[in-house]
Amino acid sequence: MYTDQRLQEIREEVNLCQRCALAKNRLHAVPGEGPSKVDIMLIGEAPGFHENRQGKPFVGQAGQLLEELLQAAGLTRDQVFITNVVKCRPPNNRDPLPEELTACQLYLDEQIALLKPEVIVTLGRISMAKFVDAGRISAIHGRTHNVNGQKVVTMYHPAAALHQPNLRPILIQDFARLKKFISTGSLPASIEAEPEALTPAEAPQPAPQANAQSSQTITALPTPGKSEEQKSSEQLSLF
Ligand code: URA
Ligand code: SF4
Repeated sequence: MYTDQRLQEIREEVNLCQRCALAKNRLHAVPGEGPSKVDIMLIGEAPGFHENRQGKPFVGQAGQLLEELLQAAGLTRDQVFITNVVKCRPPNNRDPLPEELTACQLYLDEQIALLKPEVIVTLGRISMAKFVDAGRISAIHGRTHNVNGQKVVTMYHPAAALHQPNLRPILIQDFARLKKFISTGSLPASIEAEPEALTPAEAPQPAPQANAQSSQTITALPTPGKSEEQKSSEQLSLF
């Protein structure tokens, strides 16, 4: 069917892509993987060393932790779609540059439009910045945001817990709350809460990507039960 075919074409386009300088040093681009019918889409930052070698997302140490986190949510890897905002590895795993984020965004935008996930889980601040332009990850980890009708849950990046072990139980707890969504279709109230008000000193650094619009700030979740038509038109306005 169209979705599967187009997702496959995107994979092929990404594998050949030369839209930014990251094409130069890659061994493999990492388009992302997962079934075409999913409720949950996980979006990380960019491939690392092992991902670049294997052409698959989250196969290194962070990937191992991600699998544990999915388990805490009652999920396995093959039940979710996993990808990144940038599909090729930045040298030495540096943050993607704004021009790389811009060059690569059409692939992720189309993957989201095709998959129409119920929930997008962002992993880390670079992925978060695509959707949410207010709040620091330390303040809004584990929260649900309504971004033009799309539920987005902002999580710490699993790699953060490899560097700061105290984040590990926090990540596990945040993922465990997704379990309720999977069994009931609605996210628990505890992650629908508004974030704490930020003091000016806590105001976020400018997002690395000017993609998150100010209209997409955090609000309460919409009432469930949108029609498919509403859902897709809202999603289109996301991009
Ligand atoms: N970190 C990411 O953000 N993505 C990967 O695919 C691997 C590590
Ligand atoms: Fe293309 Fe994205 Fe890879 Fe840049 S990072 S070459 S835009 S696929």
